[in-house]
Amino acid sequence: MKVMVVGGGGREHAIIKSLKKNTDIEKLYALPGNGGIAADAECVSIGAKDIEGVVNFAKENGIDFAVVAPDDPLVLGMVDALEAIGVPCFGPNKAAAIIEGSKVFSKDLMKKYNIPTAEYEVFTEMDKALLYLETAPIPTVIKADGLALGKGVIIAQTRDEAKDAVRSMMEDKIFGESGSRVVIEEFLTGPEVSVLAFTDGKTMIPMVSSMDHKRALDNDQGLNTGGMGTIAPNPYYTADIAKECMDTIFIPTMNAMNAENRTFKGCLYFGLMITPKGPKVIEYNCRFGDPETQVVLPMLKSDLLTIMMAVSKGELASVPVEFMDGAAACVVMASNGYPGKYQTGYEIVIPADLEAECYVAGGKIADGKLVTSGGRVLGVTAVAENLEKAIAKSYSQVERVTFENAYYRKDIGKRALAAK
Ligand code: AMP
Ligand code: GLY
Repeated sequence: MKVMVVGGGGREHAIIKSLKKNTDIEKLYALPGNGGIAADAECVSIGAKDIEGVVNFAKENGIDFAVVAPDDPLVLGMVDALEAIGVPCFGPNKAAAIIEGSKVFSKDLMKKYNIPTAEYEVFTEMDKALLYLETAPIPTVIKADGLALGKGVIIAQTRDEAKDAVRSMMEDKIFGESGSRVVIEEFLTGPEVSVLAFTDGKTMIPMVSSMDHKRALDNDQGLNTGGMGTIAPNPYYTADIAKECMDTIFIPTMNAMNAENRTFKGCLYFGLMITPKGPKVIEYNCRFGDPETQVVLPMLKSDLLTIMMAVSKGELASVPVEFMDGAAACVVMASNGYPGKYQTGYEIVIPADLEAECYVAGGKIADGKLVTSGGRVLGVTAVAENLEKAIAKSYSQVERVTFENAYYRKDIGKRALAAK
């Protein structure tokens, strides 16, 4: 089989390493991939948002199956375009990807189908939003409606901060058209849990739960990033909470999408907060999370390609989906300065015995060497019989991966260990 994966980050590297275990795959392409992914798949320099380029490549190269991993191409309808030329895909079509593509859509869906989430109001006029903020409970949360590179959420601690956020989104358009509509919602508290789930619209199979670490610095200080590390399973996600989520959130979301004629097939990501009033949805993503995937897929015992093909055919119920016992930890090594300014071009040295556990996000080949090319450079994952061991192993591996200017958090998993 010839399989292509669209995307080029650590998540895509983890998907590719997992797919590679299936020996039916004779050719694996990454579009565009990156310098680290090049060790595991043939990288083709076609951008992940270039629908026409991706479709032509699939046609010309006889691709049998495609995995569209990032949010942008999913929301733009890449799956629809590939399926129109007969290439089966893992990933939702455009009608279903709106669950991530529009926060207004997802909030209205949850309200209509009684799925627990923060209270909210939607505004298309700035004056009305500013007036509402005169009396809204503080802190409050302001969200741009559309995709905003993961930066479209502002938690405002004061009324002035909230108003500034609304002005910057609606007047200054810092997120472009994504900010033409804003959601202002209730500030929730409690531990956060990420749950990725396979679904074909008939069956919903949650994967092992995980915990992201979004802030740049130790003890959850500093700026928000794309994610500085993850652990799985998440100790806050107890068996009772898991059951409650299945009954009140996961299955109702699948049914709601079906009822709206937007059947979701692919990986549905539930960003949850375990509030004092029970689990609530903070956000949906229409794809695998990054860096959640770098701990979740290494724990998958079943064959990923088989699952993905079954999802695409609507036959998920007929294949095994099993995860290992034990735990995993992923520490992200970044370029010092990220998410602000940083230098790139430094050689990355990964000892051969660690290659299998390193997921490269920001690396390119220059003069035959792998060098840094992004803020998040790579994730180093370890799987072990328990979380303590997984964390210790991941950090001992991190010390053996070297590049100049490397920075990483020293406390990945600390909060999870304290919760146990
Ligand atoms: P993202 O949408 O991934 O940029 O994430 C935004 C982050 O903001 C989430 O991971 C939460 O930590 C936080 N957040 C979003 N909505 C709320 C809310 N209603 N209450 C409290 N925190 C929130
Ligand atoms: N780790 C959060 C995300 O993938 O959106």
